[in-house]
Amino acid sequence: MCGIVGMAGGQNVTPILMEGLRRLEYRGYDSAGLAVINGGRLQRLRRMGKVQALQEALNGNPLSGASGVAHTRWATHGKPSEINAHPHTSGGIAVVHNGIIENHEALREQLEADGYRFASETDTEVIVHRINYHLARAGDLRLAVSRTIGELEGGYASMVVLSDAQPDALIAARIGTPVVVGLGGDGNLVASDVAALLPVTSRLQFLEEGDVAVVGRDSVRIFDAGGREVQRPVRVSEQTADSVDLGRHRHYMEKEIHEQPAALTRALANRIEDGAIADSAFGPEARSILAQTAGVHIVACGTSYHAGLVARYQLEEVARLPCAVDLASEYRYRSPVVPENTLFVAISQSGETVDTLAALRAAKELGYLATLAICNVAESSLTREADLTFLTRAGIEIGVASTKAFTTQLAALLMLTIVLARQRGIGADTERQIVNHLAELPGLVEQSLLLDGAIAELAHEFADKHHALFLGRGALNPVAMEGALKLKEISYIHAEAYAAGELKHGPLALVDDDMPVVAVAPNNELLAKLRSNLQEVRARGGRLFVFADPAVEFGDDDGVRILRMPAHVQPIQEPLLYTVPLQLLAYHVAVLRGTDLDQPRNLAKTVTVE
Ligand code: G6P
Repeated sequence: MCGIVGMAGGQNVTPILMEGLRRLEYRGYDSAGLAVINGGRLQRLRRMGKVQALQEALNGNPLSGASGVAHTRWATHGKPSEINAHPHTSGGIAVVHNGIIENHEALREQLEADGYRFASETDTEVIVHRINYHLARAGDLRLAVSRTIGELEGGYASMVVLSDAQPDALIAARIGTPVVVGLGGDGNLVASDVAALLPVTSRLQFLEEGDVAVVGRDSVRIFDAGGREVQRPVRVSEQTADSVDLGRHRHYMEKEIHEQPAALTRALANRIEDGAIADSAFGPEARSILAQTAGVHIVACGTSYHAGLVARYQLEEVARLPCAVDLASEYRYRSPVVPENTLFVAISQSGETVDTLAALRAAKELGYLATLAICNVAESSLTREADLTFLTRAGIEIGVASTKAFTTQLAALLMLTIVLARQRGIGADTERQIVNHLAELPGLVEQSLLLDGAIAELAHEFADKHHALFLGRGALNPVAMEGALKLKEISYIHAEAYAAGELKHGPLALVDDDMPVVAVAPNNELLAKLRSNLQEVRARGGRLFVFADPAVEFGDDDGVRILRMPAHVQPIQEPLLYTVPLQLLAYHVAVLRGTDLDQPRNLAKTVTVE
């Protein structure tokens, strides 16, 4: 994972690099560091922990220079520590790197035999020593970087190199993970992610696989994997440098939960025309592709995978289309059988999750009708590589636990379901009815957020627990999975979700008065069955917390807490609406437990390693 930013500029680049790091911190926050060339000499500062720790160190020990590189780390090889923090150096060369070098041990042995001394436990350090080795022989930094790249195995090793031998230019290389050049007025930048560049420029050049770029103050030269100089198109980013202010909120997750009505409004805007979903919402070529679609295969990771699981119920029921859903990390190593005219759908908040990208690339070789990316980030790798794109427009999401990205994905998948159902002849009246239900979502979410106070109070019942069980049925089963994921990732309480019907096939053995059981119980045709499952929990002394439809009659007794939703909702709206209280529950439990809930331990928001 890790975030990279570098700049060759006219003035001191340190403040720009630090702002870039703050915007990249979602990629990892174990340690942070930067290196600049000051008076012809390489200077470096690194700190364990967050970017703020580096900022505080800089305040006491200012570093300035007209060119520099910076990095925020998510540890792979070597524990989080200052010595393992990037940039890594060898003589006057500094390297920041994102990825994994699989043959680092062999290279390390060779370098040690050549007399190089290693200061860290990282795989990255072999890169910088190999560049040093080649620079001594080739006398040219770009050539030294290219030779080093030729020796690396692993496929994910994008990097930026700074050297006092060539102080006015950086060398950037894209191997596996994105590298984007930003063309500024007073100097040029390079980063792992557009977000780090936007405060300075929106004019971008994306490196292609194997490219090596020489990024100087006044010019950028790009060479392909064969060493030929090439031109890459200059694009103007559609993204804005969204405000990352917390406003009145204590945490980004809280802010993002409360932004959901506005995010959903944006997701729906201009996509509904006269009670119907416009095909063009999925791109100019969508109409003919969607007309031929006979089945859907969804692939994603984490929370995005849960959105896919919800969509399967809806695609089958409303559009009567077969739908398979896979975890991207599993899909890429399977041998999927692809029925004719199947649409491949990749769902990703970031558009950079390495397994989802690899799955998309594998799918392109497997004879799908077409590929569609449902994604929150314009100009991400996923949107650039898929045939069709649907942007969820949730706005920048900073909290590691995904909230508004998930609910806007659900809205996007509902729009896809409706368009596909139209091709299968659901009729204009039914479409109009479903579209009306879709249009009600922002207002209904607004009402669900009114449960905030009651859930904050309920959270006390969870704060000292070690385990929790979440139950749902039908399309509410993946909602229960998402509720359990939210709770475990930010409160560190072990939480599992089960389809309520599976309870007696195992998890019932765990139920006792110390294991809270959370159930989502809309008033649908599965309610009677869910009710019996809940009785099974009560009979074993389990404490039940039920998020229920206002009309559902549940006997409130000592062991059962009922939280009634503010409004009755339609079955198609249920997954999205019942997600909101589970997000709030996880949030308030984490607040009580005092965790670092926007940046929970060991996790990162965008997972760019396998
Ligand atoms: C990480 C994040 C999750 C996210 C998952 C998939 O695990 O912490 O919030 O759901 O990656 O990310 P994507 O960007 O592909 O949706």
